[in-house]
Amino acid sequence: MKVSRNALLARIRASLARNPVTVLTGPRQSGKTTLARVLLAEDSPNYFDLEDPISLARLDEPRTSLERLEGLVVIDEVQRRPELFPVLRVLADRAGQPAHFLILGSASGELMRQSSETLAGRIERIEIGGFTLAELGANAAETLWHRGGLPRAYLAGSERDSIAWRKQFVQTLLERDFPQWGQRVSATALLRFWTMVAHYHGRIWNAATPASALGVAPATVRRYLDLLSDALMVRQLQPWHANLRKRQVKSPKVYVRDSGLLHQLLGIDTDRARLCHPLLGASWEGFVIEQTLATEPHDEAWFWATHQGAELDLLLRRGDQLLGVECKRADAPRMTPSIRIALEDLGLQRLAVIYPGAKRYPLGESAEAVPLATLAEPGSLFT
Ligand SMILES: Nc1ncnc2c1ncn2[C@@H]1O[C@H](COP(=O)(O)OP(=O)(O)O)[C@@H](O)[C@H]1O
Ligand SMILES: [Mg+2]
Repeated sequence: MKVSRNALLARIRASLARNPVTVLTGPRQSGKTTLARVLLAEDSPNYFDLEDPISLARLDEPRTSLERLEGLVVIDEVQRRPELFPVLRVLADRAGQPAHFLILGSASGELMRQSSETLAGRIERIEIGGFTLAELGANAAETLWHRGGLPRAYLAGSERDSIAWRKQFVQTLLERDFPQWGQRVSATALLRFWTMVAHYHGRIWNAATPASALGVAPATVRRYLDLLSDALMVRQLQPWHANLRKRQVKSPKVYVRDSGLLHQLLGIDTDRARLCHPLLGASWEGFVIEQTLATEPHDEAWFWATHQGAELDLLLRRGDQLLGVECKRADAPRMTPSIRIALEDLGLQRLAVIYPGAKRYPLGESAEAVPLATLAEPGSLFT
């Protein structure tokens, strides 16, 4: 089965039309190459896959080879040859722009830093992840939550195949991809750390506890966390600090971005295990947050919490508006003191309480209970 990703394709096309270089980053196996091949056939001479020795050989003299090409040029797995960025800069600045470049990278922080520094002002970056509710439709919600959105995990023929694939994915990332990206980290240590992050999923992160549990320095823990964040596997959600007299939380929250990988790391491999798991609520919350961030337009995102116990799962800034999101895995969420405080203290325009039910209904003047299914229609969370 082929899932069409028309919104992403439209964004890529629009970016290609207005920039000499477009960078598409996303985790390995998230569907980057598949998207690029919709735009340019694999056998086109303008397609370079830097994991393919033939393509690599064709780029021995990159400037000479690339200079001759016209129209769309795709360079896949660009993190293999970061020295291409200065060449792309020269090519991007040619009069009349004979070629537009789409470069794909299995995200790494270094890649992003190099490309944005070298190509500042000539580049637009589009980040992709796994499938979203908007791409799959509202009926996919349960399966998408259980299996996660990586295409092969989501589309696997059986639950067992999906789990086996996710397990292999984690292993390959740790044992092959990180070393290939030049990261010298023991795969075993990183797996233990990632599993620990899974247990902290949706909680405030304090590096001291995992450091002492793993017997490493807090600086090492920070490095591990940054590695997994750069690989788009972990999200660090930063706290919002409002100008209030209240004491507010200053540490980030951590989430395993893909719910299927979260379940794999936690060893949850049956419906029953998931439904009894203490992190069920946190898992659902993380899933809703990722889906919201993937489909609701926004400029910045945080969470908010005070030491008195008021909190907001997700705070979005869209232009000059502040919008709140709460995730409640409940049949019929009601107005709570915490929601009232968030609305008031943060001056939110709107607040949506996303829940698994079917009906959209008001909770007060600026707050609404909104079905999860609404996220299948991008941009309709706040009305
Ligand atoms: N839209 C899609 N529909 C169905 N399968 C997909 C889709 N996108 C990717 N896949 C499958 O997922 C796997 C990884 O896709 P790929 O494009 O190679 O990812 P990446 O280039 O990000 O590593 C492949 O087996 C591919 O066939
Ligand atoms: Mg690829």
